[in-house]
Amino acid sequence: MVSNKSAFLDAVGKPLRIAESPMPKPGANDIIVKNHAVAINTVDPVQADTGFMVKQYPIVLGSDVAGEVVEVGSSVTRFKKGDRVVGHAWVFQTGKPEDGAFSLYCRVPAGNAAIIPSNIEYNQAAMLPMAIDTASVGLHKEGYLGIDYPSVDAKQNGKVLVVYGGSSSVGAAAIQLAVNAGCRVIVTSSSKNFDLCLECGASDVFDYKDPNVAEKIAKAVGKDNFVGLWNAIGIPESFEVVIPIMQKLGGGFVANTKPPGELPKDIEARFVLGIDKATWPVWESGFLTEALESGKLKCLPEPIVVGKGLESLQQAFEVRKGVISAQKVVVEL
Ligand SMILES: NC(=O)c1ccc[n+]([C@@H]2O[C@H](COP(=O)([O-])OP(=O)(O)OC[C@H]3O[C@@H](n4cnc5c(N)ncnc54)[C@H](OP(=O)(O)O)[C@@H]3O)[C@@H](O)[C@H]2O)c1
Repeated sequence: MVSNKSAFLDAVGKPLRIAESPMPKPGANDIIVKNHAVAINTVDPVQADTGFMVKQYPIVLGSDVAGEVVEVGSSVTRFKKGDRVVGHAWVFQTGKPEDGAFSLYCRVPAGNAAIIPSNIEYNQAAMLPMAIDTASVGLHKEGYLGIDYPSVDAKQNGKVLVVYGGSSSVGAAAIQLAVNAGCRVIVTSSSKNFDLCLECGASDVFDYKDPNVAEKIAKAVGKDNFVGLWNAIGIPESFEVVIPIMQKLGGGFVANTKPPGELPKDIEARFVLGIDKATWPVWESGFLTEALESGKLKCLPEPIVVGKGLESLQQAFEVRKGVISAQKVVVEL
């Protein structure tokens, strides 16, 4: 008899409690995944410490899973038992413990999952879901940056996107999705992370601390069709750099994690919530699997495995709360 275990958060500020939990049951369009690796996002320890967007206690946190399919819902046709998959668990939306990633087994909507090709390890794939989905909402959802969904044979479309924070998980995903949609992508990061951004497909990378960064980006855009900026960092001080860039480029749209209070009139910024069915075409089209297999999508920034087992999650939260540069915190199960 298979049994499940989960890392429960019982109340704000409590340490995670590892305990037996019910085996999740799939809805018609869900899969049940035996998790081999889970990634820790910024929001996970924030939720544990503050209760941010927690709907009920006890809760099982976590969004990013990579593992093996053990059961499929009655309407699921893209997956079968035994498939190696990566997926976005939806606890953030449903609030139900069985939808949290930090369990041995969890439920994932089939539309938000993809087969992992054999050249990719579970602990590499686990870093993708939240980053891909957050980037994808800003790029693809109606009313945002208006960039086509990616495909492995996309043609150049003449559009130029700027990504602020290309070495972050969300930024690296935004670069790669936009490049695979046919865009040219100009990026900012620390100079030590220029190579990472170029590996993701950036055409040009500039240091956001360079006082002339706005002029340099405007020159790199040239007369091409600038479609907007993805601010992957989103903290208020990022706008001290983002606004001058936008003003050099003639205003436009910023996809962002946290819009600041006041923006100049010609700049529009819209909040991005990285859990949304608008991203499902990226998963359902087969793009993720094909692109991972062909190297057109890379699991960047590199995952750092900080522990093994649900018991390691508390320590992983502490690592995640520290300064992270071009890394994704992962726990193997
Ligand atoms: N709304 C949503 O649904 C959603 C979903 C996911 C993430 N987020 C948010 O999006 C942001 C990025 O998340 P993530 O997981 O991609 O982060 P991450 O991977 O931890 O980002 C780390 C990167 O941030 C860069 N950075 C740190 N401070 C900076 C600053 N002051 N200015 C410019 N760059 C700075 C660093 O770049 P360098 O080392 O190159 O300087 C570092 O590589 C976080 O604020 C997160 O909470 C929101």
